Amino acid sequence: MAAAASALLLALYLAPVLPLCLSSVGAVVGEQQPLLGEASAPGFAAWLRGVRRRIHQRPELAFQEHRTSELVRAELDAIGVPYRWPVAQTGVVATIAGGGGAGPTVALRADMDALPIQEMVDWAYKSQESGKMHACGHDAHTTMLLGAAKLLQDRKGDFKGIVKLVFQPSEEGYGGAYYVLQEGALADASAIFGLHVDPALPVGVVASKPGPVTATAGRFLATIHGKGGHAAMPHQSIDPVVVASTAILNLQQIVAREVHPLHGAVVSITFVKGGEAFNVIPESVTFGGTMRSISDDGLSYLMKRIKEIVEGQSSAHHCTASVDFMKEKMRPYPAVNNDERMYAHAKAVAESLLGANNVKVAPQVMGAEDFGFYAQKMAGAFFTIGVGNESTMVAVKQPHSPYFVIDEDALPVGAAFHAAVAIDFLKKHASV
Ligand SMILES: *[C@@H]1O[C@H](CO)[C@@H](O)[C@H](O)[C@H]1NC(C)=O
Repeated sequence: MAAAASALLLALYLAPVLPLCLSSVGAVVGEQQPLLGEASAPGFAAWLRGVRRRIHQRPELAFQEHRTSELVRAELDAIGVPYRWPVAQTGVVATIAGGGGAGPTVALRADMDALPIQEMVDWAYKSQESGKMHACGHDAHTTMLLGAAKLLQDRKGDFKGIVKLVFQPSEEGYGGAYYVLQEGALADASAIFGLHVDPALPVGVVASKPGPVTATAGRFLATIHGKGGHAAMPHQSIDPVVVASTAILNLQQIVAREVHPLHGAVVSITFVKGGEAFNVIPESVTFGGTMRSISDDGLSYLMKRIKEIVEGQSSAHHCTASVDFMKEKMRPYPAVNNDERMYAHAKAVAESLLGANNVKVAPQVMGAEDFGFYAQKMAGAFFTIGVGNESTMVAVKQPHSPYFVIDEDALPVGAAFHAAVAIDFLKKHASV
């Protein structure tokens, strides 16, 4: 997720942590739930940990997930699950056809890419790639889906229909999901489910809500051109630094003064680049950042106003300006909109798997997720899954932190949740 759930979640969820005995999730609930029992068994859980650690040690950035893709394919080969590859460059879409007969197709999705972050956690399996880290849990997502592949393959005689497992590239900014869809890999799917780790929730807890769960988000790059010159003679230059400063401050007024206070919106300027010397007024200044909204209309409004303000401030001060929303290279992500029925389905499955107390309602966040592309095309539901424990939740390190950690006991929970959602979906829809 491009930026994840707020620390507020910690406050909301710390209370339920205490009565939940973390280390016994598998043992206690697993008795009623064979899927969770199997995934939590020592051998299965050790396999999942091993897979996750191998991925974690070798993080790869967006559209460069070659080794990760190879690892996924090798594990699928070992389980005996066929797949299509490459999909969207490095992606893998596996297919498990229920032996019980024809039926609908349901998709489960994981993302494989890492972030350009230097891991600062000192542990045995830390990233061996300098400046790259699985700081958003995609290593865990990929592992959970491989776990689901094994659980489903073992049970494929028990369901009618097809499960497609999507190991997609490039969730972080470059919209891998969009390209998976463009290549038609999910043309026959009628529903899709996805998970994202949440370090503010304890292991054994999942959360979501019906309707929108993430923001719709895009990026902008603004360039303001003036006229460079000697800093001692500003009257002979046109100073783009002052104009950029004015524009940046004015951009903050969009959310503060123009957007309905209850309609979430964000404009964050995350970088400014100007000159190099103390005594030179530069020719131009570039700056950029992200704009987000809880609605598509809201995002369009932010884009319109960012352009107007940057251009207007520039022309008022004799500069020229351009604003690029980079829609080709980094297309805006639509909000993940949970289909009411798919949300209710996954929630009911989670309640039976983990206990009703461990299924929470999560607030919408201003983070973005390219799962939104899938949810535009078919009925989808996206859940967060707890990866915290007593020690990590004391001071939660949010995704995209160089100190991000997960409790690997969450891996069997994710594998079982994925598999149970698919099997129950096919059972419900088999004869329709
Ligand atoms: C919690 O998770 C951390 C990070 O993976 C791990 O090092 C630690 O052993 C876990 N603690 C407990 C109490 O399970």
